[in-house]
Amino acid sequence: MKKPAAAESERPPCIEVEPCLSVRTLEEDVIDGLFSKPRTLPPKYFYDPAGSHLFDQICGTDEYYLTRAESALLRECADEVVRLVRPDHIIEFGSGVSRKSRFLLDACERLGLRCTYWPMDICREVVEDAGERLMGEYPWLRVNGLIGDYNAGLGNIRLSAGRRLGVFMGSTIGNFHPADAVRFLTDVRSLLADGDRLLLGADRVKETSVLNAAYDDAAGLTARFNLNLLNVLNEGLSADFEPDNFEHHAFFNEWRKQVEMHLVSCARQQVYFGGLDRSLELDAGESICTEISRKFTDDCLSSLLRESGFATDRHYVSGDGYFSLVLGRAANAS
Ligand code: AVI
Repeated sequence: MKKPAAAESERPPCIEVEPCLSVRTLEEDVIDGLFSKPRTLPPKYFYDPAGSHLFDQICGTDEYYLTRAESALLRECADEVVRLVRPDHIIEFGSGVSRKSRFLLDACERLGLRCTYWPMDICREVVEDAGERLMGEYPWLRVNGLIGDYNAGLGNIRLSAGRRLGVFMGSTIGNFHPADAVRFLTDVRSLLADGDRLLLGADRVKETSVLNAAYDDAAGLTARFNLNLLNVLNEGLSADFEPDNFEHHAFFNEWRKQVEMHLVSCARQQVYFGGLDRSLELDAGESICTEISRKFTDDCLSSLLRESGFATDRHYVSGDGYFSLVLGRAANAS
């Protein structure tokens, strides 16, 4: 007997979000960041396919507690958050495979609430795959994908009416410099109406040894993740970096309350960028800062929210004090 055809699974509709701000190119970032001192590169270039795969693996290491701590905390507080917000729309910035939003969707299901999920990510395929899977698992769920770079401004996003819950997880806010963090969250605020909420995941200040280990795991995955940035530059700008001539260095800067990742030149060397027709001279021991990962205190988090137009509604801290989830309420602008 012929088996009935499996129901066609549905791809979610996706909207391309037009950037409001001009998006800087790799070329501009390298000229401004690498050819001046202190040498820096924006962390967004970590995430080519190899870097994204390494990042996934880092999240599973014993040392990188952030993902586990955030998931456990979200599992605990999701019902309370959903009961409080009763969201019609959940908008997740940098949604990736949408793993963590499931806790919120499970809570909606338990509480008999229906909502539309708006995952925003730069990669259409990732959003479509994640959306398709979610719509299969939660038949009541509507998914509208948003394809774009959340750093390029959110002003062109049009959401339908209803209560909104913005979600920004993973302590990605820690990868922003302080003024950029306020700028981004203010942009999120302008997408929300008074009384709407933002759920923000943020890593907390803790023992230096725990932080240093989280960014320098024994298996060397974070080192490979950091060094892979040189492959990205080799590919994108026809450079001739030799990754073996660099070392991964990560440490907690207690004064700035941030973990810093650096690539340190092992010898005096010259790197040629074919795409720029320029050479970079590096001394032995000279370092390139590739990422900051800020760690927050309670005060820091409440002022970050306040400066961005949010009042702190709830603040959940993991039992070990390692990680925070803050629920901010979009405050009256006056
Ligand atoms: C994506 N982001 C929050 C990570 C972090 O912890 O700052 C990136 C990362 N860098 C090294 N390990 C993980």
